[in-house]
Amino acid sequence: MPTKANRRMKPLYLNIAFLVTGAAILLFLFNAPEETTAKLPNDAVHSRFQEMKKKEAEKFCAECHSPQGVSPLPEGHPPKYRCLFCHKRN
Ligand code: HEC
Ligand code: HEC
Repeated sequence: MPTKANRRMKPLYLNIAFLVTGAAILLFLFNAPEETTAKLPNDAVHSRFQEMKKKEAEKFCAECHSPQGVSPLPEGHPPKYRCLFCHKRN
């Protein structure tokens, strides 16, 4: 038959395990690499897109960033719908 003390030990042990796991996850997140995806440039070409609704702005990107445009996307570019989710504005 378990004593009173024994019944209290288990939750304490679980609480410590919980805290350790939480701390490990936090550490992992703090050590994540910095975001490296290029931001939307803050230049004459792109400045008008800073104010627009994202969905509106994204209609214009392909004018220049397409195989026929002045600045085609690099080879192996990730799936490209919703440009501004990845290329953040400043
Ligand atoms: C009128 C043409 C034009 C349009 C429209 C345009 N861009 Fe660009 N973009 C360029 C040119 C040219 C460059 C390369 C020179 C530069 O950095 O400005 C460039 C560069 C970039 C870069 C690379 C920045 C870097 O640091 O290498 C990103 C990201 C980008 N554009 C995103 C976008 C997005 C997102 C849109 C739509 C909201 C967009 N562009 C619309 C012409 C355009
Ligand atoms: C899923 C995330 C994602 C989406 C969506 C996305 N991109 Fe990219 N893009 C990247 C990554 C990652 C790179 C290569 C790493 C970097 O930016 O330096 C890149 C590179 C680029 C570059 C070249 C940057 C340079 O420094 O040479 C341009 C221009 C660009 N993207 C434009 C666009 C446009 C325009 C769209 C929408 C049609 C778009 N991207 C959508 C993630 C994304």
